[in-house]
This record gives sequence, C-alpha cells and structure tokens, in this order.
Amino acid sequence: MREKIIKALSITKLSKKKIEELVEVPKDFSKGDYAFPCFVLSKKEKKNPVEIAREIAGKIKGKEFGKIEAVGPYVNFFINQKKFARDLIGRIGKEGDKFGRGIKKKEKVVVEFSQPNTHKAFHVGHVRGTSLGESISRILEFNGDKVIRANYSGDTGKHIAKWLWGYQKFYRKEKLKDDESWFAKIYSESVKKLENNKKGEKEVEELNKRLDSGKDKKLNDLWEKTRKLSISSWDRIYHELNTKFDVHYFESWIEADAKGMAEDLVKKKIAKISDGATIVDFKEHKNPGLNVFLLLRNDGTVLYGGKDMVLAKRKFDDYKFDKSIYVIGKEQDLYVHQVFKTLELMKFKWADKLSYVPFSEVKLPWGRMSSRTGDNVLYSNFKEEMIKIASGEIEKRFPKLENTLVYDRALAISIAALKYSMLKQDINKGLVFDKKTALSFEGDTGPYLLYSYARALSVLDKAGYKKQKKYDIGKIHECERKLINKLGGFPEIVKHAYGNLAPNLIANYSYELAKTFSEFYHNCQVIGSEEEQFRLKLVDSFSQVIKNALSLLGIPVIREM
Ligand code: ARG
Repeated sequence: MREKIIKALSITKLSKKKIEELVEVPKDFSKGDYAFPCFVLSKKEKKNPVEIAREIAGKIKGKEFGKIEAVGPYVNFFINQKKFARDLIGRIGKEGDKFGRGIKKKEKVVVEFSQPNTHKAFHVGHVRGTSLGESISRILEFNGDKVIRANYSGDTGKHIAKWLWGYQKFYRKEKLKDDESWFAKIYSESVKKLENNKKGEKEVEELNKRLDSGKDKKLNDLWEKTRKLSISSWDRIYHELNTKFDVHYFESWIEADAKGMAEDLVKKKIAKISDGATIVDFKEHKNPGLNVFLLLRNDGTVLYGGKDMVLAKRKFDDYKFDKSIYVIGKEQDLYVHQVFKTLELMKFKWADKLSYVPFSEVKLPWGRMSSRTGDNVLYSNFKEEMIKIASGEIEKRFPKLENTLVYDRALAISIAALKYSMLKQDINKGLVFDKKTALSFEGDTGPYLLYSYARALSVLDKAGYKKQKKYDIGKIHECERKLINKLGGFPEIVKHAYGNLAPNLIANYSYELAKTFSEFYHNCQVIGSEEEQFRLKLVDSFSQVIKNALSLLGIPVIREM
C-alpha cells in the first residue's frame, strides 16, 4: 500500500527516495493510515505548505484509497480498509509460505560464509557469520535467485602445526574425537604453552616444514585424520543452525594453484617481487589506500591472499555465477578490497560481480574474545549453557513434559535466541551478546517471536478455527487496522532486505509485527466476539507472516513453547 502511495505522490516531482523518507504513519489513526508532510515541497517551491497539501489532495485518485484529505500542511491517506483487509487475507491464505516473495530475474549467486578453520574453535563470532550467510541466502532464494552456499576453511599452515605439536606433546595418549571443543581446547593450550617458548616455536616451525614436505607419513596421516574429524564435527553445528552447504572449499586444495597465479600476476606487472616476497603494491596502481597486498612469502610459501585469488576464480569456473558474495568479518575489510581490486586489475570479466558483506565482531558482556589465543567462547559450551537456562523455564511451565521433549524445545529456543540476537543488529554495529537477555521471553528476542507464533496457534486451536469458513468485515477497529497495515507491509520489507542484503530489516520487522499482534490481542477480544471469524482470520494471517519472516532469518517455528 505504501508503495502505491509513494507512486501516487510522484506528481510532487520529488525523487522516489525522498518521498519514501517523508511518508509517515500517523500515531493517531484519525489522521489516516499514511500521511505526507508538505514542508519540504514548501521550501522548494516557496509556497505555503497548507496550499500545497490541498493541491496534492485534489489531484490524487484511486479506488484503493478510501479518502484523501488535506489537513493543514499534511496530506492524509485513508486506505479503503475493508477492501485492503479482504484482499490481503486472501493473498496470505493463497500464497502461504510464499507470501511476500519477490519475482526477480533468476540469478546464480555464490554466498560464501561461516568459514571456520579446522583444528580451531567454532566460536560465537562464527555463529554471527553463519546466521547472516544463511539468512542472506534465504532472502535471495525467496526472491527467485539460485543460491550456492559455499564454505571455506583453513586446514593448512601455522595453526595446524601448533595443534599437531600440542597434541603430540600433551595428548598423544587420548583417542581422536570428532568434537570441536576438544580441538579448540588443544589449540588454545598449545598457544599458551608456546608463549615465550623459543624451543617450542622452533619445534613447531620444524613440524610445519615436515608436514609441508609430505615426507613424514605418520605426521601427514595424523593431519589427515584429525582434519576429517574436525570437519565432521561441524555437521552437528550446521544441522542445529539450520544450514547446509553446497560446496566446501579448503585452503589445502587451493594452495597448489596459488604459485602459478602469483607468477602470472608478476608477468602481467600487477604484482612484483620485493625482498623475495610477491606483493601487489597499490601505490603503483594509483590506489595507495589499499596499501600492500601479500601473495607469497620470500621462501615461496603461499599466503592467505595468494589463495583467495585462486578461490575467486575457482568459484567462477565451478558455477559461472552472476554474483559472488563474501560474508566475512569487518576486520578483514582492507584485505577483501585488496583481493577484489587485484582481480579487477587482472581483468576477469566477473570481477565486478563480487560483493562483500562485512560484519562487526561479537563481544561478550565481559569483553572481547580473541581468536588468536583461542580464548574465546565456543559455540558448543555456549549452546549448552543456554539450553540449561531454557530447560529450566520450560520445566517451570510444563513440569510433566518428557525430558527429550524439553531438550528439543530448549534447543529450538536457544538457537532462535542466538540467531535472532545475531541478526537483529545492523551488520556495521558491534554486538554484545548476553545470553540471559537473548533468551528472555519478553522484548526484542528470538524466544518472544517464537512465543507470539505459538500463541497465535493456540488461539486458533482453542477456537476450532477452520480456514474455509466465510467471514464478514464490519467496521474496522483501530486495533485491527494497525495489524492489517503491518501484515501488508511484509513484501516491501522483503524487497528492501533483498536490495540491501540486510537480514536485520526482516528481524526488526518481525519484532514490530509481533508487538503489533500482542497489542491487537490485548485490545481486541477474539474468541466470543461479534467479529470472531474476521479476527481469527487476522490471527491466522499473522501466524503465516511471522512464520515466513522467521523462515527468512533461518529460524524454524515451534508449535508450543
Ligand atoms: N578462514 C578465514 C579466517 O579464519 C576466513 C575466510 C574468509 N574467506 C575468504 N575468502 N578469505 O579468517
């Protein structure tokens, strides 16, 4: 509806963007469903805003508008609410899980996200990237794109050597496990033991060389086995986080091709050798802000940057994408732009199809985490603590519920809490994750949204609601009106979230919708009222739309809390 009003207002000759900014929703419905203030135009045209409002109101027509009224410097739009409500309910009912979806040109999009490293922690920061990547993928799919979910992990290099060193020194008697917290523990212990430890460092250095040469079969076997176990330990996490990858790239696969690519870059005079190392000096490419980009070390070993060159090309060769999106922490901002720019200098025809979704780090109430020392909060520990809190809540309310059911429900609630708190925040803003707040059943939280869905279903159950039943719409009450307008706004939110790759827009909308529903439920009697059938329709429509919105966030709904 808002869209239609914006379109109608194009007669003001203001830009669409400006009109979008200006159109407001009056607090008081007697002033209409939407209002347009004329002050900006008044300044521009040097005319009285009251007069302008009157002119605009006289010019706009359309049967979707119940009434258009100039009141002082405002143009107030009254929607033909009955027609709008009936059409909307009909559409939501007919389109179901597809309601809100946009129809765009089908593009093939590779979305790279999550990217944990083997032999290291899967921590809360990875949860933010994973939640974002999954949600972005879903938003793209909902708009008709074909998405390839790609993961990329570091499984070679120094951190592996440290882990293997620690394992051989302190854990060799322990059986290998496919448990990511076990991997993280050994890693962080090794890092600690290597602090101010010259001898240890030398040993790691030496081990790394042996591993690279492939001559120590036992060592290479250990690497291979532990690598596999670490990777399979992620399956459970991804299952819990409701994510599945189509392809998983590894640094070890990419490494071999990186030297050739670096040499090619030197030949093309994009990169050069400096002190033995292969680098791109962006000063020489009129881009001093991008500084120096490293490809190969002076001993010829491949650096992170060298590998990303190959990976980008590999993705294109594998999928011929129309777009390739990188969801990577903001601390790699400069780096990612170095990669993109270098690919552009190489004149790959797809170099302008790359985009970067950076996200800020996750902090915990007691401060920041460090991934280098490995002193960070593991996903698994975190999840277990949350499940404990959530189980307590559930048992309070359902003392007779079976243990496994309590666990499943607590898990769903915890994941919703975790994912929602990661997604609701603008990606450019840091995030302080506090599990107690995130788990609260009230306020801007995942559990609150799940709860509002479950509540809607229980109202429908209680009323013995049947979808096919006919309904009348009498006078539309204010409490209904706000809910109707909110429900009707979903497709537009989806469109914005798609255009800006911004799941937080969907998250914020979901919260507003749930709040509006709760107000509706408080102020409008549903069961036993004269308008029961119509109001049940609204409850049903709400349950569908909140479910669709949560689905775009990658959060599955549950029937009962
Ligand atoms: N594994 C990397 C890290 O831990 C993140 C990978 C990001 N993706 C990329 N194409 N560089 O920092």
